[in-house]
Amino acid sequence: MKAVLLLAWLGLLHALRRDISTAPSTRLVSCVTAVVRQHFVSDRTLVVSASRNEDDLLGLLVHHIARSVRPVEVKRPGSSLAEDLGRYYEKTGHYVILSNNAGDIGEQADHLVASASWNNEARFLIVVTLPVDSPRQEALSVMREAWDEMRALNMVVLVQFETDFHFYTWFPYQSDKLCADVEDVELLNQWTWEKGGEFLSSELLFPNKIPKNFKGCPIKAVTPYYKTFEARYLPEFLKGLNFTIEIESKYWEIYVDLEVAIRTAMEDVLLGRAEVAFGAIPLFKDAADLADPSFAYYESKYQWYVPCAKPFSRLEAISRIFSLPVWAALVTSMFLIAVVTCSLARRSAESHAYTTPSTALYNVWAVVMGVSVTEMPRTSHLRVVIFPWIWYCFAVSTVFQAFFTSYLVDPGLQKQITSLEELVESGIEFGFRPEIGLYYERSPYKVHQDVLKLHTFCRQTHLCIDEIVKTGLFATVAETWAVEKHLSSLRDSDRELVCPMNDFDSFPIRIVCYFAKSSFLLDTFNRILASVVESGLNIKADRVRKVGVTLDKFTEDEYFVFGTSHLMIAFYALLVGQLLSCVVFLCELIRHKNLNRP
Ligand SMILES: *[C@@H]1O[C@H](CO)[C@@H](O)[C@H](O)[C@H]1NC(C)=O
Repeated sequence: MKAVLLLAWLGLLHALRRDISTAPSTRLVSCVTAVVRQHFVSDRTLVVSASRNEDDLLGLLVHHIARSVRPVEVKRPGSSLAEDLGRYYEKTGHYVILSNNAGDIGEQADHLVASASWNNEARFLIVVTLPVDSPRQEALSVMREAWDEMRALNMVVLVQFETDFHFYTWFPYQSDKLCADVEDVELLNQWTWEKGGEFLSSELLFPNKIPKNFKGCPIKAVTPYYKTFEARYLPEFLKGLNFTIEIESKYWEIYVDLEVAIRTAMEDVLLGRAEVAFGAIPLFKDAADLADPSFAYYESKYQWYVPCAKPFSRLEAISRIFSLPVWAALVTSMFLIAVVTCSLARRSAESHAYTTPSTALYNVWAVVMGVSVTEMPRTSHLRVVIFPWIWYCFAVSTVFQAFFTSYLVDPGLQKQITSLEELVESGIEFGFRPEIGLYYERSPYKVHQDVLKLHTFCRQTHLCIDEIVKTGLFATVAETWAVEKHLSSLRDSDRELVCPMNDFDSFPIRIVCYFAKSSFLLDTFNRILASVVESGLNIKADRVRKVGVTLDKFTEDEYFVFGTSHLMIAFYALLVGQLLSCVVFLCELIRHKNLNRP
C-alpha cells in the first residue's frame, strides 16, 4: 500500500512538474513558431537572440524553428562576433528576440547591431517571455526601448496575457503630434490557445508603415549650399508629402568654406539634429561609410579651366610667316646681290643704273618688291646674276602673299595649356577650393602631388573664375555646373577668356542626399529623386543655367568680312615708307643745296 501511494505521489509530482515547467513555454514556442511559419516569408537567415537566463526556452524554440528550412543563427550578448568576419555578409532577414522585460533589450540590441549582417529592414519579433498584467503598457515600454536602440520599423512585440498572446506594434506619422517617436502601440492580432492555437484575425503582422501623407510632421534638412536646383524642388516635393519643412543653410550664414559647410551638415545628420543633408554634396566613400547616400540625381565633373589662347597680334603673325633664318637669308642675299651686281657692272660697260652702290641696291630692292627696275641690265654677266634673283624673289613673294592675306584675316592663336604637366611647367598661378585638394591627396601620380604642392587656395569658384578673366594668368579646377552658372552671368567678352583645359584631367562626381544610417525616409526620398531625374528637372536646370554659354567658339562655315581694320598693318607700312622717303627727300634737298653753294 505504501509503495502504491509512493508511486502515485511520484506520478503526480512528475505530471505536475511537467505541467509547471513546460506548459506555458510550449505554448509560447508554438506561437512563435507559427509566426515564423506564417509571417517570416523570405529564405533569409533567421537570428534568434536571447539574454543569458533564457537557456531552456531558447533550446526549445530553436529545436522547433529549425524544422523549417531556413538557416537559424543564435546570438547572445557576449558571444563572439569573430565568426561574422570574413564569412558571408548576407543581411539577416528576420530576428526573434527573447527578452524578460524592457531592461534587457539594450544589451541584446548592441550585440545585434554590431554584427556585419545587421539589417534594420528585417522583420523583428520581440518576445516578452514572462506573463504580464498590463500587456499594452509592457509592449509600449519594450517597443520604445527597442526603437531607440535599433531604429527598425518592422517590429512586433509579443506579450503573454493570461493564456493568450498579444501582438503589438506602432505606426509612425499618425498625426502632427505623433511623428517619429513611439508614443503609443496598437494591438495588431492575438493568438489563442483554444483549438490548439491560432490567430484571432488574418491581420498582417508586418504591414507597410511608411505613409504617403506625413500629416504635417516636422522634417529638418541641412544644406551646405542653397543655390542648387534641388533646393528649389525638394521642399515642394516634401510639402506634397505633407511634411513641415525646416531648412537650415550652413554656407552663407556661418561658413565661407564649402568643405566645412558640408562636414557640419553631415555631422548634423549623424548626430540626429537633422534628418537629411542635401545641396551639392558629392557621393564620396568617407561620407557613405557613415551615412546613407540617396539615389544620385545629378552628375557633373570637376574640370580644369585655363585662360583661353590669345590671338597673335597681326604684326607678330606676319613676322612668323618665315622663320628667322629665312628672313636673315633674304636680307643678306639682297645685300650680297647688290654688291655683286655693283662690282660686275663697274667692270663691264653697264649703264650707270647699276654702277653705284645705292642705285644697285635700289634696283635689287625693286626686284624684291616686284616692281620695275630703272633700266634693264645690258651685259650677259649681269643678266646671269639678276635673272635667278628675279625668280627667287617671285617664288618667295608668292608664298609670302598667300600667308600674308590669310594672316590678315586670322592671325591664329597662341598655344593654350592642354594638360596638367604643361600647367605646372608654365609657372602660372593656379588654385582651387580646399576640399578639391582631398581628391589629389591620395593620388599616386607625381603631377597631382606637384599640383598639391604649388597650388594656392581660392575659396569660391566664382572668385577663381574672375581671377582668370582679370589676369589671364590663373587656372582653376571646379565643378562644371558652378562654372557654367557663373560664366552665364558674365559679359560675352569676358566669357571668351575662360576655356576648359582638356577632357581627361577631370573626374566625375555624383550629387546625392545623405541620411542617417538606415533611415527609413531613404525610400521615400529615392522615389522623389527618381521622379526628379525621370521628369528631366535636372536637365532643365542645366539648360537654364547654360543660357548664353556656348562651348565651341569657332563655328565653321562662317563668312568673314574683310574690313579696313584688317589691312591696318599694310596702311601703317605704307605710312612709314612715305615718311621715310620724305625724310630722305629732305636730306637730299639739303645736301644738294650745300653742294651747290659757291
Ligand atoms: C497635412 O497634415 C495636417 C496635420 O495632420 C492635416 O490637418 C492636413 O489635412 C494634411 N494635409 C493633407 C493635404 O493631407
